Amino acid sequence: MLTENKIILEEKQGEVLQRNNDGDKKLFLESYGCQMNFSDSEIVASILEKEGYSTTTSFEEADLILLNTCSIREKAEQTVRNRLSQFNQVKAKNPALMIGVLGCMAERLKDKFLEEEHLIDLVVGPDAYRDLPHLLEKIEGGKSAVNVILSKDETYADLNPVRLGGNGVTAFVSITRGCDNMCTFCVVPFTRGRERSRDPHSIINECKDLQQKGYKEITLLGQNVDSYLWYGGGLKKDFKSASAMQQASAIHFSQLLEMVALAVPDIRIRFSTSNPQDMTTDVLHTMAKYDNICKYIHLPVQSGSTSVLARMNRKHTREEYVELIDNVRKIVPECAISHDMITGFCDETEEEHQETLSLMEYVKYDFGYMFAYSDRPGTPAHKKLEDNVPEEIKKRRLQEIIQLQQKHSKERMQAQLNKIHEVLIEGDSKKSNSDWYGRNSQNAVVVFPKTGEEKIGDLVLVFASDCTSATLLGNKI
Ligand code: SAH
Ligand code: F3S
Repeated sequence: MLTENKIILEEKQGEVLQRNNDGDKKLFLESYGCQMNFSDSEIVASILEKEGYSTTTSFEEADLILLNTCSIREKAEQTVRNRLSQFNQVKAKNPALMIGVLGCMAERLKDKFLEEEHLIDLVVGPDAYRDLPHLLEKIEGGKSAVNVILSKDETYADLNPVRLGGNGVTAFVSITRGCDNMCTFCVVPFTRGRERSRDPHSIINECKDLQQKGYKEITLLGQNVDSYLWYGGGLKKDFKSASAMQQASAIHFSQLLEMVALAVPDIRIRFSTSNPQDMTTDVLHTMAKYDNICKYIHLPVQSGSTSVLARMNRKHTREEYVELIDNVRKIVPECAISHDMITGFCDETEEEHQETLSLMEYVKYDFGYMFAYSDRPGTPAHKKLEDNVPEEIKKRRLQEIIQLQQKHSKERMQAQLNKIHEVLIEGDSKKSNSDWYGRNSQNAVVVFPKTGEEKIGDLVLVFASDCTSATLLGNKI
């Protein structure tokens, strides 16, 4: 878990939407990458449900196989290629089977995908899912179909995602799409398009609907949630040319967070991902003010060195980041903080790497998600900088930061011992079905024995008496 991004959870990679028996045609939909992709898959399932498709967990019985893909690192794309070659073997036996690729890899490779992978019928980018019924008609007629048009205003606001993958307790609600930040290493601005925010009323409605359906925790999702800005619709970059009235009545992230916290007071609220350059102290004050907003911030920094941050186009210095961390500690003292870190970015020196280690020592993050730099075609770094840190040095530096993070995670865990934690029960513990699995407000995993009196979705108090490096162990009180 420590080496993977919070929203690119290793155990979720390749997850298949669960079985739902209503339709006459069968869809096998497998997802990779960040939580945004998993959310999008629920939108896709909802669009195709109306076309008579039900989801299946067995690709052998599918009429349509869709892979929702990720491009963030080379390894993610390789995994998808391997999976496609397996599906192609099934297609060789059953030529009527349709295979499509969705998401970031579809957007990055566009119709080149059809040339490279001959057995694919369909390539659809993240903003074009509404076009799926029409594209399917085309391929049923024997043609291949591609739609990778990125949109200015698509947020799928009116579509109620079918929630097939979850536990009925925790749900994700997407609030922004795309990203304008142009971090030089990152492919997301090219695969998911320009940044736009979703109508707050549709967000609130979805949250209330989830509350009614018995959900107990909602995570507001975006590539960069702090950058949320609603002024009646349209791209964030066009805000400057909005009317004075639109600008004056615009809704920022801290306001949205407050609206959600008030609209569903019995639901825990989380959000992901925060970006240091956009996070304001208003957000921290809102977190402090509402008990139902969880005290946890995922605040990727990528490097502890101001010069590396500049090469990454991260728009803040080490010192500004430290100031933000100090503000978190001051305003929300019980808050847990996690990071994303990249080792071996272009020209990274040993001194710059040491600055990353010293920043980690300063913050003592609760969790961390760490990666060796992977050069991505099309990104500004790929065009202008050289991927010149040798692989073995990247790996060695990665190992060093992972080890340091493990030490800090353990210390942070130990500091939570002999205390009472409010835990939302999410399901059985992976190791034993006589134990519950849940998380506290700080997002630490808590495992404790069932007493027979509680059920999934209950908020219970647990006294933590022991821990491993990633889990608190205790008993319900
Ligand atoms: N804002 C997004 C970031 C998406 S990418 C979010 O919602 O989290 C997730 C993480 O992958 C980044 O924070 C970064 O640490 C890592 N990453 C992105 N591009 C990378 C690359 N080219 N090589 C290695 N790691 C990368
Ligand atoms: Fe990528 Fe930076 Fe946006 S990491 S998703 S370009 S904030």
